[in-house]
Amino acid sequence: ERLPALLAAMPKAELHIHVEGSLEPELIFQLARRNGVRLPYASVEELRRAYAFSNLQSFLDIYYAGASVLLREQDFYDMAWAYLQRAQADNVLRAEIFFDPQTHTARGVPMETVIHGLHRACQDAKQLGVDAELILCFLRHLSEEEAFDTLEQALPLRDRFIGVGLDSSELGHPPEKFARVFAKCRQQGLHLVAHAGEEGPPAYVWSALDVLKVERIDHGVQSAQDPALMKRLADEHIPLTVCPLSNLKLRVFPKLEQHNLRELLDAGLVATVNSDDPAYFGGYVNANFLETFAATGLDAQHAYRLARNSFEGSFADASAKKKYL
Ligand code: ADE
Ligand code: ZN
Repeated sequence: ERLPALLAAMPKAELHIHVEGSLEPELIFQLARRNGVRLPYASVEELRRAYAFSNLQSFLDIYYAGASVLLREQDFYDMAWAYLQRAQADNVLRAEIFFDPQTHTARGVPMETVIHGLHRACQDAKQLGVDAELILCFLRHLSEEEAFDTLEQALPLRDRFIGVGLDSSELGHPPEKFARVFAKCRQQGLHLVAHAGEEGPPAYVWSALDVLKVERIDHGVQSAQDPALMKRLADEHIPLTVCPLSNLKLRVFPKLEQHNLRELLDAGLVATVNSDDPAYFGGYVNANFLETFAATGLDAQHAYRLARNSFEGSFADASAKKKYL
């Protein structure tokens, strides 16, 4: 069994990981105790039993509830540090980590508390051999005005994150809604990404590219329904940060055997494998590789391609990329 060993050992970048989605039930309970936050679940086991999702929204409701235990800078540090240790164990050399500040500022947690805690963990990750950067995500179920407020609060800390993204409930919240705030982020020299084509139609991928001018598409698996879009993604080398176990747990694909990762790769797309919300979906990045390869019959050539795509698709600077590739 050489393929599982190769998948586990190969150096890789993780480009689609929500740090709040790496919060394990045990840490949720530990932080709840530390902060005196009451949880609507009696035990770790009861919380874990609630992780039975039927679609994206059913997950998001529990994911935002789990984040309610995060109050102090140290809480954000501990959450990010736990993820970074798991990333090191999976031979992740570069991690571009999403965070959802609005989930916390809405509860009265200051923006600096969130960013300082996460950023300090990213700096300490150098000791682990993990090059870690932050990407601030706007919640698309909230208004563009709220996104502008969030950006304004974060801009004094502009040097502590490398880009912005767009996440949360996709259907009914097309990229166009955030055209102006992304234009402002672009002026600030921030990298731009957006979730599109997870549950939403190919039209949302088109508008993420044409209206928001994003450099990468998060998920993007619904692009396979649109041959012209597939050609564009291939021709322009636009990376897709695919999350197979997330897609399985949120029922984007009924079975992992039916996942279209191979179709995306065979069409020449810069597809990558990522964990999305590993504490909720049953696996960190190596579990995503191992289970998807086992279910879909991908081979060692695909493994090398995916590892290469992960570094190519990253926002590492040119000299760091040369070193990785
Ligand atoms: N926030 C955390 N995980 C997400 C996902 N898979 N889609 C949209 N928003 C998210
Ligand atoms: Zn995501």
